[in-house]
Amino acid sequence: MPPHNVIIDCDTGVDDALALLLALRSPEFNVLGITNVAGNVPLNKVVRNTLVVVEHSGKNVPVYQGASHALTGGAETAEYAHGSDGLADIGFPEPKLVKQEEHAVDYLVRTFMESAEPIDLITLAPLTNIALALLVEPRLEEHIHSLVMMAGGISGGNTTPAAEFNVWVDPEAADAVFRSHIPMTMVALDPIRQGGGIYPEDVDRLEKCGASWCWMASRLLRVQRTRWEEYLGHPTPASPPDLAAMGVALDPTLAEAQMLPVVVETGGKHTRGMTLVDRREGRMRFRSGQEPNVNTVLSIDNARYRKLVLDTWLED
Ligand code: BDR
Ligand code: CA
Repeated sequence: MPPHNVIIDCDTGVDDALALLLALRSPEFNVLGITNVAGNVPLNKVVRNTLVVVEHSGKNVPVYQGASHALTGGAETAEYAHGSDGLADIGFPEPKLVKQEEHAVDYLVRTFMESAEPIDLITLAPLTNIALALLVEPRLEEHIHSLVMMAGGISGGNTTPAAEFNVWVDPEAADAVFRSHIPMTMVALDPIRQGGGIYPEDVDRLEKCGASWCWMASRLLRVQRTRWEEYLGHPTPASPPDLAAMGVALDPTLAEAQMLPVVVETGGKHTRGMTLVDRREGRMRFRSGQEPNVNTVLSIDNARYRKLVLDTWLED
C-alpha cells in the first residue's frame, strides 16, 4: 500500500510534538505539510517548536504559520500544561530549519483544491485555520478526504467542566468545522482518560534507542507522566491526547467508534466550547433533528496503540 498523504494542523506543545514524531516516522504516512495555529503557546513559539520537532524527526517537512488568534479575537494559552516554551522547558536547541512564507490558510486551500490524490487532514489544535480555509473556499469540504481531530469531550472537558481546550479556545471555528460535510472522526478526551497510555518501561526503551526522535519522545513522555502523577497523586501511564489521536489516524482499527450527532456550544453561560454528543438511543435521538455527523471514538485498544507507537519509533 502506498503511504497516505496527510496534512497536520497543530499548536505544538508537548503532546503535539509526540504526535508529530509518530506521524513523521511512520511509513504509513506521507506528511505533505504541517500548518500551525496559536493554542498551547503563542503562534511564534508554536512555529519554533514545530521546526524543533521536525528537525528531531530526521525529516524535512514544510511548516506553515497560520492564525494567531481565535475567530472572535482571543488567544488563550496553556503554559501551565506545556511549560513556558511549550516543550516542557527542557531546553531543546533553536532550530536551523525555517518556516515557509505562504500563510497556512492559503497553503491548505491551494493544496486540497489542486491535488489529484486524496489527502487526509489531522488536527491537534483549535480549529481556527480550518474554519478560515472553509470560509475562503467553501468547496474545500468536498476536497478533504477525511479529518481526524483531537477535539472535544463526550462526558466533559478539561479546560472547563464542559469544554476541552481545543474547542474552548475557538468555539466558533469548531462549530464551523463540525457543521461542515467533511467526513470526520473525533478523538475526544474520554477514550484517552480510560487509564491507558505509554508505560514507564516503554519510556525506558525509547531512552536507550539513541535516535534523536526517540530521545526527544522519551524526554517529553517522562515530563508528561511526572506532571500527571503529581496532579493525580498516584502512578499513571503517559497519555498525551494528540499522540492517541495520531495513533487512531494511523490505524483506525485501534478505535471502537460510533457515528453520533455532535454539535458545538457557542453560547452557554457555563457550557461555551462544549461538544454536545447525543448518545441517546434510536427514536429519542432523532427527535433532536441533528443527524449523526461525527464518527466518535469511544475507546482505544491500548495494547495495540502502545505497540504501534513503540514499533514506529524503534524500527530504524
Ligand atoms: C488538547 O489541548 C492541548 O493542550 C493539547 O495539545 C491537546 O491538543 C487537549 O485538550
Ligand atoms: Ca494540541
